[in-house]
Amino acid sequence: MRIFLDTADTAVIRKHWDTGLIDGVTTNPTLMMKAGRNVDDVYQEIKDIGVTDISMEVVGSGADMINEGLRLHKTFGQCATIKVPMTKEGLLACRTLFGEGINVNVTLIFSAAQAILAAKAGAKYVSPFVGRVDDNSFDGIELIDQISDIYTIQNIRKTEILAASVRDVKTVSDSFASGAHVVTIAPPVFPQLFYHVLTDHGLY
Ligand code: E4P
Repeated sequence: MRIFLDTADTAVIRKHWDTGLIDGVTTNPTLMMKAGRNVDDVYQEIKDIGVTDISMEVVGSGADMINEGLRLHKTFGQCATIKVPMTKEGLLACRTLFGEGINVNVTLIFSAAQAILAAKAGAKYVSPFVGRVDDNSFDGIELIDQISDIYTIQNIRKTEILAASVRDVKTVSDSFASGAHVVTIAPPVFPQLFYHVLTDHGLY
């Protein structure tokens, strides 16, 4: 049961990392743009904080993704989890990188069928976007349930479910209850996990 932070803001990562309750970090190009810094500098700083699992997203053609994934792995070592999109090229890149012993996170998962293909391609993580499924009037937690059932029935152990696009406390616990191994959360959600109004009342 691991909690990742979905951010490229190193000050925020550092602050929450000190709790000892964070297990990794996921980033994406939008978060990197928001950080407004050299991408490698950001990864290096996250690594220096002590984070041992950092999802680093690659873009472009299949060859671009493979080359950049190899470069990132060479630069940052085992803490680099290469994040590829759930496309045919992304899965081909996943297979190649998996063959090189590199961990891959297949992102933008919106169906159980996609999670099946990603597992077959050797993904370490599949990232179903719970919040965005909900945004579109489907049930994101039901998707986690389905993927978890399939992986259990089919005895898939090497691919883990990383619930992404998680923006509230209830979705964190619902995701774990439905079989997610990891939940990556927007940083403002993390302090909210500590809080309950009745705990506060009980203190006085
Ligand atoms: C995860 O890897 C994604 O970057 C992220 O969770 C997307 O979240 P959003 O749907 O809130 O943008």
